Amino acid sequence: MGRGSSNHTIILIFVVVLLAQLDAALVHGQATRVGFYSKTCPRVESIVRSTVQTHFRSNLTIAPGLLRMHFHDCFVHGCDASILIDGANTEKTAPPNSLLRGYEVIDDAKAKLEAACPGVVSCADILALAARDSVFVTKGSSWQVPTGRRDGRISLASDTSNLPGFRDSVDVQKQKFAEKGLDTKDLVALVGGHTIGTAACQFFRYRLYNFTTSGNDADPTIDPTFLPQLRALCPQNDDGTRRVGLDTGSQNRFDSSFFNNLRNSHGVLESDQKLWIDASTRTFVQRFLGVRGFSVEFGRSMVKMSNVDVKTGTEGEIRKICSAIN
Ligand code: HEM
Ligand SMILES: *[C@@H]1O[C@H](CO)[C@@H](O)[C@H](O)[C@H]1NC(C)=O
Ligand SMILES: *[C@@H]1O[C@H](CO)[C@@H](O)[C@H](O)[C@H]1NC(C)=O
Repeated sequence: MGRGSSNHTIILIFVVVLLAQLDAALVHGQATRVGFYSKTCPRVESIVRSTVQTHFRSNLTIAPGLLRMHFHDCFVHGCDASILIDGANTEKTAPPNSLLRGYEVIDDAKAKLEAACPGVVSCADILALAARDSVFVTKGSSWQVPTGRRDGRISLASDTSNLPGFRDSVDVQKQKFAEKGLDTKDLVALVGGHTIGTAACQFFRYRLYNFTTSGNDADPTIDPTFLPQLRALCPQNDDGTRRVGLDTGSQNRFDSSFFNNLRNSHGVLESDQKLWIDASTRTFVQRFLGVRGFSVEFGRSMVKMSNVDVKTGTEGEIRKICSAIN
């Protein structure tokens, strides 16, 4: 082959690749990608990680707080940092979000990023990275987070009703995840996020003392040897401040023991225990009993969840501070 023809081949390949990219952009809209900030803010990932680590060292509840915050962000208006907006009747004021914690970590990371590369990194990306880093600091496995999200300009408490509830049946849980493009495997893997963190007694006390309307009974799906333990942790007359690990015995470590607890009828939330009772989700609980299977699927499902209804390109904005729309 002469020199001219190999040049033509290179140009042809170039054009084909360009057309393929154009086609992907037109058909699917712009997508997030790993390394979106590699030129504009190369230190973004190390800044977010060190910020999460610093706060985590002073308070371990930061990790579960940030992981749950990202989930609650993604399920309402997509992963666009709408959860972070302060003000009357914004998402964070809605009952399902009242116990979220870790906002100060995002604000801290944003301040450092504005100093390093002003006006470049979205709050939505900071939250997605911080959720990944929360799993990293609790000794879970890691994954690459595609970035390039833009921040949303709408945040309404009234839009939070599609968040899953702790009494939801498996069918309702599946349906709420399906609406976000997440399948049954994603549901079980992502609820495995409950391997870290705690729940306030208010979310499961009825299972211990008052399960049916006839009263004075406990949820029969709780292991009878586990029931007195939970009752001791959550007395009927508790002042409302007590919290209990969602993964009994391992609430600070991102492992797969949450699924073992479900298998042993040691689930704390009713919605969690139902994942073992229902055959369609039990299959996945069984698969995730081994830590390797779980950690790989958790990372995959997190990447899917982190891409739910994301804004990219020229949509939305890059906020100056994460708690307010520009
Ligand atoms: C059916 C779906 C889900 C339901 C019904 C549910 C419900 C709950 C409830 C009631 C709490 C206790 C909140 C508190 O007392 O502060 C909680 C905590 C938590 N959830 Fe979920 N959740 C679900 C899915 C998820 C997903 C998908 C993730 C993340 C991938 C997640 C991560 C967490 C974490 C880390 C905590 C502990 C928070 C803390 O310690 O501050 N949850 N969840
Ligand atoms: C960690 O933060 C939580 C939530 O803000 C708080 O209730 C708890 O007392 C803190 N723990 C420590 C050890 O400071
Ligand atoms: C049990 O539930 C019923 C109906 O939901 C309620 O009226 C009653 O006060 C509850 N009892 C206790 C001890 O919580």
